[in-house]
Amino acid sequence: MGKIFVDACFGKETPYTPVWMMRQAGRYLPEYMAVRAKAGNFLNLCHNPAQACEVTLQPVDIVGVDAAILFSDILVIPDEMGMDLSFIKGEGPKFSDPITCDADIDRLLGGDEAASKLTYVFDTIKLIKEQLSEDKALIGFTGAPWTLATYMIEGQGTKTYNVCKKMMYSNPELLHKILAKVTEVVKLYMEKQIQAGIDVVQIFDSWAAAIETEKYDEFSWKYMVEIADYLKSKYPHVPIIMFPKGIPAFLDKVYGNFDVFGVDWSTPMALAKEKLGSKYVLQGNMEPCRLYSKEATTQAVEEIQEVMGGKRHIFNLGHGILPDVPVENAKHFIRECHRVSGK
Ligand code: CP3
Repeated sequence: MGKIFVDACFGKETPYTPVWMMRQAGRYLPEYMAVRAKAGNFLNLCHNPAQACEVTLQPVDIVGVDAAILFSDILVIPDEMGMDLSFIKGEGPKFSDPITCDADIDRLLGGDEAASKLTYVFDTIKLIKEQLSEDKALIGFTGAPWTLATYMIEGQGTKTYNVCKKMMYSNPELLHKILAKVTEVVKLYMEKQIQAGIDVVQIFDSWAAAIETEKYDEFSWKYMVEIADYLKSKYPHVPIIMFPKGIPAFLDKVYGNFDVFGVDWSTPMALAKEKLGSKYVLQGNMEPCRLYSKEATTQAVEEIQEVMGGKRHIFNLGHGILPDVPVENAKHFIRECHRVSGK
């Protein structure tokens, strides 16, 4: 059986519009919380293929999405390059040794040396593929080099990005050196994810909006395109989704060899369609907080369907689902996407 999600990524006609949710395997599901409690903490869960596989499949079984997304985190990449990652309860991710100079980046593992250490991810993918129903796709993912670099330089999440932007304007050579090294690791890491069995690639540039539009290509987009070019030259049958969050002013300048453009919730779907809809399939983009209200959800799904008309479209949220969303409302979103598009 073919996979409707993969067909939709390539812009083929499908019987209905497929849907998934960013962060669909996560804390809003009591079943996820139970497995995480057994694992002890979030990183243990990422490192345990059987448990990571179990939580990957939960939203497929419980919520009814059309694609699974590998359960892992973007930050396992710098962790395996040799930075010391921890998740502190209530505070999010932390690196104890952020990059401040050339020697700091030279010390880290690069290329295949780093990518080969992510064996627990490839083992998880193989397990998922044994258990995921044939008609559903498995999405693998990476962070964009820029989004990864923000954590590697700041040492944690940031509201102002002042440490990495200080580097951007006062020592751009060092920032490019970091971005280039991460790009090489990501290319090989995603290639290994494909060899392990993922059906689709998504590149998350969650912190794209931190960069001024004039500098976005130089410090982020071109590295994402380089990764896409590398993968497309070897694996043209694997669709690539680019998700740069919050860059409506860059839509006119978007270029590259990929299949799906992920539209975040701050960008009107009609604008994305006008600028990019003929070149790329569009994914998105309901404001995730609408999930708190079934009425607000139905209204948005109908509006998005009206704009996209069931063509060259994949339903999704415009960013990740939040931990306090009722499971019933997430199911409602999936049902409504299927209803309006004819399932
Ligand atoms: O379901 C899925 O989408 C797959 C799993 C997934 C996670 N992280 C699991 C996770 C994916 C695709 C990611 C990507 C990720 N991780 C991104 C890019 C996507 C985005 O949302 O923009 C970023 C920026 C990160 C870094 C990261 N990981 C942060 C900032 C945090 C803490 C935030 C929080 O919600 O506490 C994480 C932890 C994390 N990654 C959790 C999950 C389910 C929460 C961990 C837990 O408490 O169980």
